Amino acid sequence: MSVTVRVPAKVNVQLAVGAARPDGFHDLANVFLAVSLYDEVTAAPAADGLRVTCEGPDAAEVPLDRTNLAARAALALAERYGRAPDVHLHIAKDIPVAGGMAGGSADGAGALLACDALWGTGAPRDELLAICAELGSDVPFSLVGGAALGTGRGERLTALEVGGEFHWVFALAARGLSTPAVFREFDRLAEGRAIPEPAADQAVLDALAKGDPTALAVALTNDLQPAALSLFPELGDTLAAGRAAGALAALVSGSGPTTAFLATDAGAASDIAGVLRASGTCRDVRTAVGAAAGATVL
Ligand code: C5P
Repeated sequence: MSVTVRVPAKVNVQLAVGAARPDGFHDLANVFLAVSLYDEVTAAPAADGLRVTCEGPDAAEVPLDRTNLAARAALALAERYGRAPDVHLHIAKDIPVAGGMAGGSADGAGALLACDALWGTGAPRDELLAICAELGSDVPFSLVGGAALGTGRGERLTALEVGGEFHWVFALAARGLSTPAVFREFDRLAEGRAIPEPAADQAVLDALAKGDPTALAVALTNDLQPAALSLFPELGDTLAAGRAAGALAALVSGSGPTTAFLATDAGAASDIAGVLRASGTCRDVRTAVGAAAGATVL
């Protein structure tokens, strides 16, 4: 018997970043939208201890030790319920690794839900969310999906209404970017400047609620984008190629380096994907739709 959980990737349609806090984290106003690129995490009984395996195009870049958020999720749940973490976690990986699309967070949320079902722990939703928040700032959102405003370091969620489908194109970069490195670059670029308190932009929330891609395109922002571009200047060419191909908006996804392009509809997304694929400015191109459901037992 095994349990498989499907978990979506995310794009940030607003990422407002405040000044560094004493604990090194940054307060955020983070508008998450889950999109239809998925990892699947399967939990199967194991005789003795915890094992993680991974398949998929980027599997070689996924750590299989206890730094993997899926492993940490299983260990955290086992510890809370006083049981041995005897489980084989298998990750079928489709979300870009180190891409700014919460792929690692998805695996954490997926493993947590899969182990909860496999072990019959029956942890209440609030407890699952609390474990997610301990694992990482984006992990609670991977569990709930849809669209949400994340405050604090991004882990305190308020669900948001989404009034229609948003069509996206994602350009995968040749290499990854480390999230802490991008936040450090944000701090370096911000030196000597006053950083306002991050706040949700009503225009972003309204565009989501109306399901209006044109309005969302005008409103979306990412405060980490200058830092990601500073560390990875070639992303500027990818953004320009997508804009020239007719994207309503082009931005870095989260801390990057995946770049995200908002399209009017599915046909436009497919056209933009074709142009980006031929542009030579990225490693691979994917299309996806948001909002997608959160972590789901299959
Ligand atoms: O919470 P998570 O483990 O995903 O964060 C990874 C890193 O990203 C943190 O160690 C920190 O450097 C940075 N970060 C931050 N402020 C946040 C979220 C993440 O500085 N709100």
